[in-house]
Amino acid sequence: MPAMTAVDADARAGAGTPGEAVGPLVRGVAVLRRLTEAGGTLSPSALERATGLARSTVDRITGTLGRMGYVRLDGRDVVLTPRVMELGNAYLAALRLPALLDARADALADELDESVSLAVADRDGIRFIHQATRRRALSVSFRIGDLLPAERTAPGALFATEWTEPDWTRWRERRAEDVQDASFPAVPPRARPTDDHSSTASSPGSPHDSSTDPFTDSFTERVERARRDGWAVDDQLIEPGLVAVSVPVRDPGTGRVACVASVVSHTSRHSAADLRTSLLPRLRTAVKAMETDLRTAPAPEPGPAPAGLATWTTASKHELGRDFVESLARGLTVLTAFGEVRSALPLTEVARATGLSRATARRALLTHEHLGLVAARPDRTFTLTPRVLDLGFPPLSRTTLARLAEPHLRALADAVREPTALAVLTSDGKEIQYTAGAGTSRVLTVRITVGTRLPATATSLGRVLLADTAAPPSPTLAEVRSQGYALVDEELESGLRSIAVPVRDRTGRTVAALNVSTHAARRTLRDCVHDLLPALHATADHIQRDLHTTSRFTHVPPS
Ligand code: PHB
Repeated sequence: MPAMTAVDADARAGAGTPGEAVGPLVRGVAVLRRLTEAGGTLSPSALERATGLARSTVDRITGTLGRMGYVRLDGRDVVLTPRVMELGNAYLAALRLPALLDARADALADELDESVSLAVADRDGIRFIHQATRRRALSVSFRIGDLLPAERTAPGALFATEWTEPDWTRWRERRAEDVQDASFPAVPPRARPTDDHSSTASSPGSPHDSSTDPFTDSFTERVERARRDGWAVDDQLIEPGLVAVSVPVRDPGTGRVACVASVVSHTSRHSAADLRTSLLPRLRTAVKAMETDLRTAPAPEPGPAPAGLATWTTASKHELGRDFVESLARGLTVLTAFGEVRSALPLTEVARATGLSRATARRALLTHEHLGLVAARPDRTFTLTPRVLDLGFPPLSRTTLARLAEPHLRALADAVREPTALAVLTSDGKEIQYTAGAGTSRVLTVRITVGTRLPATATSLGRVLLADTAAPPSPTLAEVRSQGYALVDEELESGLRSIAVPVRDRTGRTVAALNVSTHAARRTLRDCVHDLLPALHATADHIQRDLHTTSRFTHVPPS
């Protein structure tokens, strides 16, 4: 019997009507899921093996995803790009919980100096929708979008207090089928393969293996305790040293668990037993405040409804022909019709937002339902599920501005055949520091070494960065601010000319600067402004678009 391929598994994962499913959409989603599991990069032949698809199919799918801006080719590798996060962003925006609760979770992490997370239920697993992470040597930390088996986490015990009999049946079947938790790539393999009735982390001789210990019992017992106590503990269920305490955040309307807030620590700082006295009280206070926020949150401001989201696909089909899989592009675009005020949409609304016919929109929605990405509700509307985060979100949720800028810097350096660099201001504002760059193969060229510092006022990069921050700007900085770029001519070094523009975050604040350097013998000052400035602005726009997408629900540090 041939082995089941990933595409079969994806198609099996959801309920629905396989006969009507859009095949190319099923295959495209499989490619995105395999890339996500692999950490964001795979060669085409590795994709062939992972999906069971023919090479020509893989090529057409990755070509289409490339056209959508969801992947790019890096040498021979297929690499997920920041833009793919717009799919997960649609889910997180529609959910509204991150917008309403992230700031409280971040404040609690600061107060306790421990990591704090928010998780939602995803069938018999839990999925993170926020992580306020402390960087520590002794800690694993999960990413937004990571899926964990419910029974190996504290939030899982709280969610399972609401499970129905079919939920428990599904859980038992999954435990029996997947004895190592291989379907949860974010966690280390389960220690004891057949262990359904005692803690997975306890082993003979470990401090918590006595039968009177509260943490060595079965998941069902931990669920009962969670029901009774209203909180739950994870005593090294995922891996040795990792402990967590969790409290449910209840929906004010239904009283059901909307998400679970957790404080995560390490046994070197807190034993599981002392979490209750040391961290639980402050976690509970924060959760009360979160529930108040949910109760008092104003309805989201209705903006203009999106229109024609998928109409660009027709032009791409005309241009690229067979190499563009239009049904895949249209199907994925359906997911972006959802958002903050548009969390549950009837078919008519999806068709209107995308510009697709009702029949096309319907088949795409049924396919997504079949794949577990969309859920149909009794009121005939559709919602996105947490599984949408499987489409590229976790590997990209830890990116930096420097990393996401790199391919754009490379493209700019290749286009103008001059070196380009990205820099930020040091904390005292006196120097700039290169965070990324791309050089050229010319003999006479500026070499950019990441980490190098230079005096801010003498460089084009520094002037752009200072122009926005200086309280009373000098005439030079005032001019830079009004013209939107800085041109430095042989001031730092004889023969060196450079021109820089700002890179702005979602709020419009300048967070980095981007420049191109050249030699006075190669380009006049006029050439710099006429030839280099438009290319610089276009590159800054590309970097900003990626930054604005990635930073909508995740923190993107400069480097
Ligand atoms: C987390 O990393 O946020 C985490 C890990 C395990 C838990 C709860 C939260 O049980």
